[in-house]
Amino acid sequence: MKSERASFGSKFGIIMAAAGSAVGLGNIWRFPVETGNNGGAAFILIYILAIALLGVPLMVAEFFVGRHAHTNAAHAYRKLSSHPLWSNIGFIGAFGGSLILCYYVVVAGWVLKYMFLSIDGTLGALFTPGDASGYESLFGTFVSSTWSPLIYMAAFVLMCHFAITAGVRRGIEKLSKIFMPALFVILVVLVVLSLFAPGAQEGLSFLFHPDFSKLTTRSVLLAIAQAFFSLSLCMGCLCTYASYFGKDVNIIRSAANISIIDTMVAIMSGLIIFPAVFSAGIDPQSGPSLAFIALPGAFCEAFSGVPMLASLISILFYALLVLAALTSAISLYEVPTAYIHETWHIRRRYAAMLVTVVCLLLGTVCSLSMGLWGDVQLFGKNIFDLLDYFCTTIMMPLSGVFIALFVGWVVKRSVFIDDVTNEHALRPGPAKLIWWLLRWVAPVLLLAAFLGVLGVI
Ligand code: TRP
Repeated sequence: MKSERASFGSKFGIIMAAAGSAVGLGNIWRFPVETGNNGGAAFILIYILAIALLGVPLMVAEFFVGRHAHTNAAHAYRKLSSHPLWSNIGFIGAFGGSLILCYYVVVAGWVLKYMFLSIDGTLGALFTPGDASGYESLFGTFVSSTWSPLIYMAAFVLMCHFAITAGVRRGIEKLSKIFMPALFVILVVLVVLSLFAPGAQEGLSFLFHPDFSKLTTRSVLLAIAQAFFSLSLCMGCLCTYASYFGKDVNIIRSAANISIIDTMVAIMSGLIIFPAVFSAGIDPQSGPSLAFIALPGAFCEAFSGVPMLASLISILFYALLVLAALTSAISLYEVPTAYIHETWHIRRRYAAMLVTVVCLLLGTVCSLSMGLWGDVQLFGKNIFDLLDYFCTTIMMPLSGVFIALFVGWVVKRSVFIDDVTNEHALRPGPAKLIWWLLRWVAPVLLLAAFLGVLGVI
């Protein structure tokens, strides 16, 4: 007996779930770091261009494939083409997405720990004006220790597990409908507070005055990679979610809305972080440690007259990160879960359990590679960094090239246009434009970006 396939309940739910996938550590943690390292506003302009020219078309492509095939990402491409070169795109994506999940949960575990550290006052107590060494050693000791990061990671994985087993509508959609508006409220409160920090002006000018002299080829490539990571592209998440869409959903409008929400959140995170960082006199280029080493002190420094406010901001900030990470991790979780559930015909609950076990095992390896197993290195990178590099700089653009070529050249144009216009209920103009971008612009730009990252061109 074949039971009916799950689906999302409402259009609002769809936007919230997909935006929940997109908005995550990538926006709040990674985006400010990349912007800080690559010259501020000029980087943001390139980032926005990458979203418009590559991100939105590829999101539409993934939505189209998922909804049209009406099955999990690994199988969806197979339904549209039987040629082995194309039918395996979905597999590559699903595999890459599962790998991302394994290190994503490690960072999410750190965030969870930092939320508790701000609630119990540890972060506030460590504050010494003009000196971040206390935070530095706290972070260094924590991530390189064996048990503590593992426990927080496991707690986060279990949260994802329960959300996924609750189902598409009662788990993913319901949580996203509550968490995303909550996240937005927290963001607005934090932006307003951060803008009032003394010296906020400098942070704003860093964000909004482009200095093109700082822009290099490499930063253009990084902007594209960041755009893809932030929109959750190419790794099967959006394709899997779209397989739960109804036939009346306007795919292009949804993709545009989700991209706008995602970009707004990224810029708002910059608005929270840079004014605080500048007013505390911290170097915006302090790298991945920005959120864990520079920020706790920056919040205290910026509001040194009102410690209560500083600790409130800190709590809200890490709570925001936990919520954002959860809705993103869930989308990564759903890809292998849906695949196992539909391929092996086992219950969703058991499929999720399998994913949880594998994720815990691989997540443990990633976490330990920051300490105990730090000596295990390849090309000068530990396992954690290697996995991140492999997934975001190699798998993601490569999979993007294939997806664009697939929809632009392999699938019949009329099939794409018919589906995306909901059988001509919608205007054909936008669908034709997207198709053109997928056929001509995306493969060329992405291939150039990919070869550029590898140092070939
Ligand atoms: N987009 C999420 C973030 O910004 C992370 C994420 C979820 C992701 N699903 C993805 C990244 C698929 C790449 C591919 O944090």
